[in-house]
Amino acid sequence: MMKSVDVGGQRLAVEDRGSGPPVLLVHGFPLDHGMWDAQIEALARHYRVIAPDLRGFGQSAPLPAGCTAVTMACFADDLGALLAGLGVEGPVAVCGLSMGGYIALEFWRRHRWRVGKLILCDTRAAPDAPEALAARFQNAARALAEGTAFLADTLLPRLVVPATLQANAAITGRLREWIAAASPHTVAAALRGMACRSDARPWLGAIDCPGLVLAGQHDAISPPDEMQAMAAQMPKARFATIPEAGHMAPMENPQAVNAALLSFLAG
Ligand code: MLT
Repeated sequence: MMKSVDVGGQRLAVEDRGSGPPVLLVHGFPLDHGMWDAQIEALARHYRVIAPDLRGFGQSAPLPAGCTAVTMACFADDLGALLAGLGVEGPVAVCGLSMGGYIALEFWRRHRWRVGKLILCDTRAAPDAPEALAARFQNAARALAEGTAFLADTLLPRLVVPATLQANAAITGRLREWIAAASPHTVAAALRGMACRSDARPWLGAIDCPGLVLAGQHDAISPPDEMQAMAAQMPKARFATIPEAGHMAPMENPQAVNAALLSFLAG
């Protein structure tokens, strides 16, 4: 069921479904909680699944006019306030994809007591290389000048494997819709926030809760070998690849992702 929760003056829309130990699902850029539909369906049979639209995305309230960047720390603090607003006490399992993973890492750093288990899907701990950083700022300016539709053509071939791109109109259609519907203001602010995110590599060794690092086998944005190295740095994490999937593994191969999540969460 969709709810609305005020987090420090900003309204977040959140899917809150099922009952049992809480699992927080954090979406990627520039999407919304709907990217987790298949996981919400499967996990809500055993868990309380909390899947927000991050600040400015999806059905959440637009960003205030003067906001030029939303940091990963700000998104992470929103999640802390969201859990409190929903009356969730104690640690939860946190699962973030890509930008959602950057936020999950920051959430661990800032709200460590809240993280009982950490799942990092198709994400990176390292900061952006200089060319990627420059592209973030160019794309932010372009989104503000001409809207977000151009992002679909640049992003889609990197988000999914060629087979999905060519033959799965349901997935590509939804991704295109989300990208086109995303607010240029939010897109620019999130791009700038990602550009200045912290290097999480130095603190991976301190993440001592059970962890699962999941990589789409053909992820072009978060290379699986880099993710495997990340998992190796985390004392209690294991690494798994999702076959026949790229960056959007939870959408491209939901059966394999759901099986990995259910087995890890039950463990
Ligand atoms: C995402 O899927 O959230 C983005 O690819 C993250 C990024 O641009 O680094």
